[in-house]
Amino acid sequence: MNYKIAVLPGDGIGPEIIQQAIKVLKAVGTKFNHRFEFSEAPVGAAAIKSTGSPYPDETHKLCMESDAVLFGAIGDPKYDNDPKAKVRPEQGLLAMRKKLGLYANIRPVTTFKSLIHKSPLRPDLVEGADFVVVRELTGGIYFGEPRGRSEDGLTAYDTCVYHKEEVQRIVKLGFEYASRRNRRLTVVDKANVLATSRLWRETVQEMAPEYKDIEVDYMFVDNAAMQIIQWPKKFDVMVTENMFGDILSDEASVITGSLGLLPSASVGIHTSVFEPIHGSYPQAAGKDIANPLATVLSAAMLLEVSLKLTAEAEAIRQAVSRSMDAGIVTEDISEGKAFRTSEVGDWLAGHL
Ligand code: IPM
Ligand code: MG
Repeated sequence: MNYKIAVLPGDGIGPEIIQQAIKVLKAVGTKFNHRFEFSEAPVGAAAIKSTGSPYPDETHKLCMESDAVLFGAIGDPKYDNDPKAKVRPEQGLLAMRKKLGLYANIRPVTTFKSLIHKSPLRPDLVEGADFVVVRELTGGIYFGEPRGRSEDGLTAYDTCVYHKEEVQRIVKLGFEYASRRNRRLTVVDKANVLATSRLWRETVQEMAPEYKDIEVDYMFVDNAAMQIIQWPKKFDVMVTENMFGDILSDEASVITGSLGLLPSASVGIHTSVFEPIHGSYPQAAGKDIANPLATVLSAAMLLEVSLKLTAEAEAIRQAVSRSMDAGIVTEDISEGKAFRTSEVGDWLAGHL
């Protein structure tokens, strides 16, 4: 089969890690007889530099016309300490999510045996932890209006807004993930304080009877933050609003031993986007040292979720496991000799 994949490398280490995922996808294409057509487009700080916009119309058009989007990373320290900057790279990511209608971000948290000792948690707490964070991605305080500054500049405000349908569609996805897994759904909110959270809770309570075989529990976000590090194994599927999901998924990812290993999928109305959950790691940009595995595993999610190529996705996951067993990994997770980003990509492609 022929598939069109839009490639948005973005900033920092984005281009070099994306390169490895492309190598791996090409190898999968050869092995399984598929043709992947890759088209590259700018996003983030790189796009501001070349076009003035962090998510140019041309890039959006390419995404809309593709079967899936492979995304690197976004962000540039130049903007982080400049609160007055008019355009910011992150606006590109948010605009992309909104325009593609990507209301759900799926972040699987899995542990790898060979990495358990790198976890900041005790091995007995973390070994075998395996859950999915389903984060709402196009609503809440990230997008609510009004937002801004008062005339005198002394007051700033953001608004957290959720409509019932937005809650229903993400919660439905949460239930569906839970039915395919261990049938436990944890709803994370702050219903003791926030009206939006009470809408979430009410909506889940209305929907729960349709999913009788799923055990639902509700947890305030502060408690959830604590339980993730105390009993990470108790979670199966966690569904939550945009900002809570942003924070908790970062927390969840580090307990596995490396941020450099976790992929994600953003799905919704139009083309789905697949990206590593780590950021643009500007200190490492261009040095050929960044861990490409989260991006390679994101490519596996792309094959499975968007193109329905399950065996192909599994082949990538196996190759990644083998590379870790064989110690063909970058410096962040290596025990002995550290391999370069490009060497890991070559090894994976060769192995496939
Ligand atoms: C993420 C990132 C983004 C977010 C930033 C870069 C805007 O942290 O994908 O989790 O907050 O959603
Ligand atoms: Mg984040």
